[in-house]
Amino acid sequence: MSVSNKVDSGSQGTPGAGHRSVIGAGGVETASEILNRIFSDASGSSAGAEMADLTARYQALQKATFPQPEQTRFIAVANQKGGVGKTTTTVNLASAFAEFGSQVLVIDMDPQGNASTALGVPHETGIQSTYDVLEGRHGIEEVKVASPGFETLEVVPSSIDLSGAELEVADMPERNQLLKKALTDFLRGSKKHYDYILVDCPPSLGLLVLNAMCSVNEVLIPVQAEYYALEGLQQLLHTIGLVQQSYNPYLVISTMLLTMYDKRTLLSKEVFDQVREHYPEIVLNTTIPRSVKISEAPSFQQSVITYDPRGAGAISYEEAALEIAQRSKWVLKHIANRKQGE
Ligand SMILES: Nc1ncnc2c1ncn2[C@@H]1O[C@H](COP(=O)(O)OP(=O)(O)OP(=O)(O)O)[C@@H](O)[C@H]1O
Ligand SMILES: [Mg+2]
Repeated sequence: MSVSNKVDSGSQGTPGAGHRSVIGAGGVETASEILNRIFSDASGSSAGAEMADLTARYQALQKATFPQPEQTRFIAVANQKGGVGKTTTTVNLASAFAEFGSQVLVIDMDPQGNASTALGVPHETGIQSTYDVLEGRHGIEEVKVASPGFETLEVVPSSIDLSGAELEVADMPERNQLLKKALTDFLRGSKKHYDYILVDCPPSLGLLVLNAMCSVNEVLIPVQAEYYALEGLQQLLHTIGLVQQSYNPYLVISTMLLTMYDKRTLLSKEVFDQVREHYPEIVLNTTIPRSVKISEAPSFQQSVITYDPRGAGAISYEEAALEIAQRSKWVLKHIANRKQGE
């Protein structure tokens, strides 16, 4: 129970209602207004109201119908800016999709292997990994492993060896298409249908990211709610434009997701408003809050979905996953139209 609840249950969002004024009949502030002022954050919501809101959102998610996409959605999670939440988003969306019954494959394209860690799969040097897949030594079928958290979630782990791949494949004629080829071969031979294939990209615009963008139809851009967010986007959009021109004309930027959103700050709101103004069709209404549980989860080799299932982080990523799923028809149609040259 929140402090404000203990003192006065009327302080949750209905300032003034049914309470005597502290100052007297002609006073300006009622008891509940004072409590609300003291215990509310800058956004005006009290801790009690926040907990009630979280419970309601959790219950709504339990009741929600989660549509599966009619075709596989191939999504690269990319932003050349470091630390904006690419891996966190990949891991938690993948887990949320799997929790809602989707078949999911995560491809870790980052030599740091953070997605592999968070999904609880080994990624030490020497294991079979994305590195072997790109260089053609093993197929995805041989390299993928099950994530312990969810039955329908598999991972192609990366290892630090992958950092050598960019140089090693630099002279290959099809060096941008290595992942696409491996993925096409794998899916051709696979009996399993995947609803979502997510590729976690490293923070660069090098060959690994090019390979990711050539093998998917969609880019999901996590945007950290901070001052320079939009400036960094220009360079990323330019690169995506080049990929569309030269290698993958069907690539669409389908989704932007605001991460590390702090609703108590005006800055977060301003960044969200700006991104919405510039990219109204692709920004999700859901934002991901800054949350200690989200950042703690990987050290337990878990997503926040299993680590803190009723917390704000898990609920927000599940809401984002639901929103992405509900947009499947629209996105897949958009991609199909591009393929038909419209
Ligand atoms: N919503 C959040 N709340 C709190 N911490 C977060 C949140 N999202 C990400 N983090 C933390 O921020 C750091 C960077 O996140 P993450 O690794 O997902 O970013 P990234 O874009 O994948 O980074 P890189 O560019 O290095 O691959 C991590 O320590 C992560 O735990
Ligand atoms: Mg990362």
